[in-house]
Amino acid sequence: MHTPIPPPTYLPTLPPIHDYGIAVVGCGGIVNYAHLPAYRNHGLTVVGCFDRDGVTAQETATRHHIPRVYATLTALLADPAVHIVDIAVPAWEQRAIAEQALAAGKHLLCQKPLAENLADARAIMTAGEHAQRWVAVNQQMRWSAGIAASADLIRRGVIGQPTDAQIWVSANTPWHMWPWLRDSVHLDIMYHSIHYLDSLRHLFGNPALLTSRHGRYPGQPELAETKTTTILEYADGLQATVMVNHHDASTANAATFRFLGTEGIITGTIGSMYDYPHGRTDTLGAARHGAALVDVPLSGLWIPDAFIGPMASLMHAMQSNTPPITSARDNIFTLQLVHGAYLSAAEARTIAPDSL
Ligand SMILES: NC(=O)c1ccc[n+]([C@@H]2O[C@H](COP(=O)([O-])OP(=O)(O)OC[C@H]3O[C@@H](n4cnc5c(N)ncnc54)[C@H](O)[C@@H]3O)[C@@H](O)[C@H]2O)c1
Repeated sequence: MHTPIPPPTYLPTLPPIHDYGIAVVGCGGIVNYAHLPAYRNHGLTVVGCFDRDGVTAQETATRHHIPRVYATLTALLADPAVHIVDIAVPAWEQRAIAEQALAAGKHLLCQKPLAENLADARAIMTAGEHAQRWVAVNQQMRWSAGIAASADLIRRGVIGQPTDAQIWVSANTPWHMWPWLRDSVHLDIMYHSIHYLDSLRHLFGNPALLTSRHGRYPGQPELAETKTTTILEYADGLQATVMVNHHDASTANAATFRFLGTEGIITGTIGSMYDYPHGRTDTLGAARHGAALVDVPLSGLWIPDAFIGPMASLMHAMQSNTPPITSARDNIFTLQLVHGAYLSAAEARTIAPDSL
């Protein structure tokens, strides 16, 4: 007789106080289809927005009933009703906005990647620490149902000691949603697999070694890598692989995760990768070794539901004075994996990410 699989606790919770004034900087796709719907669903207070394209800002304000459109970032930062600045601009624009907002005494939720290079990311982290304001990073996959439920079940010992982890995604990614990414010198790892690398860190901690290989699809319009395989090796023998292909024109797309341990297994699907950004709810099955896989029902969608997670964690930090789960300091380790992957692929060698 095997111990039953416990129902996982995985839905994000808001702290008792959650009426902080939020102002959004950058009113593009992700803000409109993810940030603002998630905040509305949880009754958060969005006091205003700013985009350097004033028309975009006004359209976003109208669509989401946001009371104020600021003409400038300076005007937004001068508003005492703004406690949290929620930044969602391309990564190379983020540092300048973050530094100004921290100097104005605001707490920040930054988009991922925190920066395209480690120096800028570390500068944002340091600016937050000097200003004594929290900087959280929107690595919201940690709060997606499949990953959050897996984290809870692993913590409760369902798989025993983790030995093998695999994330395998073969999809037809709509890169046209982000025209600026077509000519980017970094693609999958920096902008997509960063979620998987961050989630693996959330589940298993930091690997000792990383090896990554990158490829392209014949005739692809994107400049940079759209096929990657990355292996993470942990000091205790755990091996984790992330295999991603963004040019799968077949009808057999797949996006799965599989976490195996000495006592059991958790396996499931990443729903949002089946019809991005509409997606499906993640699926999850778990079993103790020797027992049949049990279906663990999950609810919610990565987009928009997981987007409440980083904001809730930032609000918890503001009340408890403990860092948000995806703090800038934590995120440096995720970016070390990202840059380690590029270095590994470029130099065809294995990297110790903590050396970067
Ligand atoms: N966490 C996730 O899952 C996720 C998903 C998609 C995008 N993103 C990230 O979110 C960010 C935005 O992505 P998007 O898809 O919404 O892009 P987008 O191009 O649709 O929107 C970006 C917006 O930012 C505005 N902008 C650019 N620079 C600005 C500046 N200096 N000041 C004010 N406004 C500025 C643009 O005018 C535009 O409206 C990117 O960093 C991207 O990597 C994260």
